[in-house]
Amino acid sequence: YNYNNLIVEVENKIALVTLNRPEALNALNKDLLDDISNFFTNADSDSDIRVIILTGSGEKSFVAGADIKEFANFDGHQGEQLAAKGQENVFDKIENSKKPVIAAVNGFALGGGLELAMASHFRIASTNAKLGLPEVTLGLIPGYGGTQRLPKLIGKGRAMQAIMTADMFTAERAYEIGLVNEVVEQVELINRAKEIATKISKNSSVAIRHAIRAINASDKDNGFEVEIESFGNLFDEEDFKEGTIAFIEKRKPNFK
Ligand code: HXC
Repeated sequence: YNYNNLIVEVENKIALVTLNRPEALNALNKDLLDDISNFFTNADSDSDIRVIILTGSGEKSFVAGADIKEFANFDGHQGEQLAAKGQENVFDKIENSKKPVIAAVNGFALGGGLELAMASHFRIASTNAKLGLPEVTLGLIPGYGGTQRLPKLIGKGRAMQAIMTADMFTAERAYEIGLVNEVVEQVELINRAKEIATKISKNSSVAIRHAIRAINASDKDNGFEVEIESFGNLFDEEDFKEGTIAFIEKRKPNFK
């Protein structure tokens, strides 16, 4: 595939996707959002990809937010469209990706950048990472799901304070409050992400797809029903037969 603002490297069923606008600290402009949206559409049906890692180019920034210069003269209607289209075409698509998405936060994850990391299935960070939602300093609020996902990840009170003050969390603090799962040195970040991705890629991909669906449903009213339905569906899959037979035969499963 050809992307203008993404570098996509696929190796051993793992796609390393680098958001690449270093001159703007990888801020999300329309072109970059379109590329991300297209990538996730393609990845869903690409059997060469089992796990996706999202990161930012350079050593300074994951994503410094939505591109402020691009929306600076928007009116209310355009602002609403910006948020609605972005959530639908990018952020919800990532959250509901059939393939696991790991955000490897390698520096600033601000505004839309933190929202991108939060739409991912989980996050690891480098020691220099700084994460925050500074929109109120621009006279705005988060518009790519930040007011919804941050309280779920770190609790309502912490989310209120973070959004009201616009303070950034250090990587260490983000780890303490569960915003990121692990913190490693920057030189180790992609290796560690690939290590986790490799482990995931050896497990049943159809089971993982259903796990994503069921865990995502924990935010909704019908989470238990979704879990039961997914659980049942998996009994009709080849991976279930292979996994259980492998256990009984005392060998490692070989999932297709
Ligand atoms: C456009 C950006 C940008 C952004 C950085 N740049 N962030 N351009 N949109 N969000 C550009 C700068 O203009 C500059 O380009 C270059 O990247 C380097 O940035 P500097 O500011 O010179 O770097 P530094 O002094 O190290 O400061 C880093 C920073 C700062 C703290 C991350 O750049 C910053 O505060 N950025 C904005 C963060 C922010 O407010 N994000 C939320 C955006 S609103 P030039 O060409 O000038 O040198 C949002 C809403 C989402 O995300 C919801 C939408 C629906």
